Amino acid sequence: MGTNTSPHGYGHLGLMSLLALSSLLVGALCRELASTHHTIEVNSLLPSASCKTSSSKAASGNAAWLKVVHKHGPCAAGGQQPTHVDILREDQKRVETINSRLVPASLVGPNRVRQSAANIPAKSGRTVGSGNYVVTVGLGTPKRDLTLIFDTGSDITWTQCKPCVKYCYQQREPIFDSSTSTSYINVSCTSASCSQLATATGNSPGCSSSSTCVYGIQYGDQSYSVGFFAKEKLILTPTDAFDGFMFGCGQNNRGLFGGAAGLLGLGRNTLSIVEQTAVKYGRYFSYCLPSSTASTGHLTFGKSYSAATATALKFTPLSTLSQSGTFYGITIQAIYVGGQMLSIPPSTFSNAPAIIDSGTVISRLPPTAYAALRDAFKQKMTKYPTAPALSILDTCYDFSNYTAVDIPKVGLSFAGAVYVDLPWVGIMYPASASRVCLAFAANADDRDVLIYGNVQQLKFEVVYDVGAMRLGFGPGGCA
Ligand SMILES: *[C@@H]1O[C@H](CO)[C@@H](O)[C@H](O)[C@H]1NC(C)=O
Ligand SMILES: *[C@@H]1O[C@H](CO)[C@@H](O)[C@H](O)[C@H]1NC(C)=O
Repeated sequence: MGTNTSPHGYGHLGLMSLLALSSLLVGALCRELASTHHTIEVNSLLPSASCKTSSSKAASGNAAWLKVVHKHGPCAAGGQQPTHVDILREDQKRVETINSRLVPASLVGPNRVRQSAANIPAKSGRTVGSGNYVVTVGLGTPKRDLTLIFDTGSDITWTQCKPCVKYCYQQREPIFDSSTSTSYINVSCTSASCSQLATATGNSPGCSSSSTCVYGIQYGDQSYSVGFFAKEKLILTPTDAFDGFMFGCGQNNRGLFGGAAGLLGLGRNTLSIVEQTAVKYGRYFSYCLPSSTASTGHLTFGKSYSAATATALKFTPLSTLSQSGTFYGITIQAIYVGGQMLSIPPSTFSNAPAIIDSGTVISRLPPTAYAALRDAFKQKMTKYPTAPALSILDTCYDFSNYTAVDIPKVGLSFAGAVYVDLPWVGIMYPASASRVCLAFAANADDRDVLIYGNVQQLKFEVVYDVGAMRLGFGPGGCA
């Protein structure tokens, strides 16, 4: 990605100087008449069957480095791979539940398609979805390893717990047994942290007969976890452990967690791991999501990267959304295709709330912005045969007769003159060589939440400097 600069030029100098005048970006425009497209080997579109684990690196300084793998795929020790249609359907559920939390009901007009409003608990629905990433952390004394989905779109951390009073779904690792841990302590219903659950989960906490605080969190689409709110020793690395970490000891858990032991909440609420470890890590974390299910990325708490990565990082402001204390708000200002800024009225971006989310797969754009992107993209792809739409993805191509294809570059600019030049994995969603789709989707309404999803985050070092309320992007965070 080229940051603080314009996207790569497109070779039309007349047009480029017009763009330079109209662009809000600072810095020298058009200094690079570099390529306007990516060339993709069609073979590389196919999924890999084996895990190419990168050597885990030790974090430097005051930081904890955890390996990240895709929830499904060879690096995550088996598990059933859902179909692309399943993944996209679950993704849509997550987006609908995010909207139900962030967009006032009064804005939902009569013709709006909010299909799942009826079957999703409106105030607290969250869908975990399938397109997610997992990390392994240690919990308890002695330590048990638990693989958790990490999620910037929710706050509390929970894991399934024996005796599974009501129900536990199948998970890959043995289920955590609090009765065999000497550091487990129940949180009382009268404690302040118990009352904080109301904002963290959207549900008022309950109280067991023995006065233990009971949490409940729904993720939409019938996924939920209910159990005892408790404190435990959390071990991130051999040198980084936290006593008294508050988490949910899940006694009744159902849903699409795909064999993971639970969820690691990275939202902005006081009960999230970001806040609970703030003294040590200063509300600073970063991750890199691997571009294939066969490779690995990382989740790092605290500042830890090479000097080269540090200089390449570009920061855009993070904002708070008044409607919910969970999400990380961002500001997107423009979209580029093949080096050309699309003509999208600025009000399109200012009228919709916008967030970055680790758990939404496909970025969702206001329909006006999406239409401009799709039309410009299609115009540069006319030589390729099209393929049928795939669920929410309506712009698909059949590359089965090609060994290599050229796709136009796509980039986005964020507030603070941060330009993110997407790698091809952030532009195309390959279901198969004969169905490769533009990896963006339109919201139903221009007022819906713009969501910067995880396909568009692949391979970047994405830095959440919550203390300074800024979000950083760096190129080449992982493979
Ligand atoms: C925690 O609370 C639950 C529910 O009241 C109870 O069954 C369990 O024994 C308690 N555990 C400890 C260690 O106090
Ligand atoms: C691929 O090539 C074959 C043989 O020329 C042709 O029959 C087929 O229609 C082509 N497929 C596409 C998607 O263009």
